[in-house]
Amino acid sequence: MKDKIKNASSIEELQVLYSDTFGKNGTMTAKLKTMATLSNEERAKVNAENAELRGLFKEKQTELENAAINAKLATEYVDVTLDGEQIAHGTLHPLTQSLKELSAILESMGFGLWTGPEIEDDWHNFTALNTPEYHPARDMQDSFFMENGNVMRTQTSSVQIRAMEQVGVPIKMFAIGSTYRKEMDATHSPMFHQIEGLYIDKNVTMSDLIATLRTLLSKFFERDIEIRIRPSYFPFTEPSVEFDMKWGDKWLEMGGAGMVHPNVLKSCKINPDEYQGFAFGFGWDRMAMLKYGLNDIRKFYDGDIRWLKNSGF
Ligand code: DAH
Repeated sequence: MKDKIKNASSIEELQVLYSDTFGKNGTMTAKLKTMATLSNEERAKVNAENAELRGLFKEKQTELENAAINAKLATEYVDVTLDGEQIAHGTLHPLTQSLKELSAILESMGFGLWTGPEIEDDWHNFTALNTPEYHPARDMQDSFFMENGNVMRTQTSSVQIRAMEQVGVPIKMFAIGSTYRKEMDATHSPMFHQIEGLYIDKNVTMSDLIATLRTLLSKFFERDIEIRIRPSYFPFTEPSVEFDMKWGDKWLEMGGAGMVHPNVLKSCKINPDEYQGFAFGFGWDRMAMLKYGLNDIRKFYDGDIRWLKNSGF
């Protein structure tokens, strides 16, 4: 048996020999069964033989396994000099990138992020925002109405209402998301994005509004931004302003803002004699276009990877 073990040429052959020796009907198994009837001397002999055989099997097994590994290594190898596979790195879409930046800035100024539905009811999109039924903003030309009277939200201002209804005042919130209007050209898309801010407390003034807008724009564009405000009209603010930003030697219209109209506060069961504050809203696509030097808003939504790659991302 010892020679057979030593000469085994494969693991399979060794396994057969092993079971012939130590299996249920194996020769060694039979000898071990008779141990009780043997003298001390004979028992020691059997034990020694048992140990020797087990040692031989172990040794042969290791030898055969190593041989198998070596054979494999000799035929199969990894060519470390081959070129690796080029993995294309994805990048954030310019809108996602600017969304993250704007959110981080507003959060650092204490504004909390709120979201609201894109299919809005009349109350949140218009009525609670002091936009009576005859207001031109409700014109079918501008808004996508659903058969049941709901509307694809035309402005993120609807989220102000939801936030005030839910947590009351004082409140410092912002919303950022998709809005929808029936318009389409190089600077308008039927689906676009807005960012909205609201700050209501007991001592909030127009100066806070101006400082907030200036800080937000300066941080976003990473330079000192000059802004100016012009009187304007929005149903939900009084006084209302539009704000412009100095860009090179031009003034660019950025968005609308104002002190929240008492009727809006009343819609949300807030006492306007006690609380007041500001709100602002502007196009987030526009911000991204300016920051990253893009000139056609429609490109944002085409999903054309070649354009996205060439737009500096
Ligand atoms: N919702 C306005 C728009 O879509 C923008 C706006 C103006 C938002 C004034 C405001 C605001 O919160 O106070 O044109």
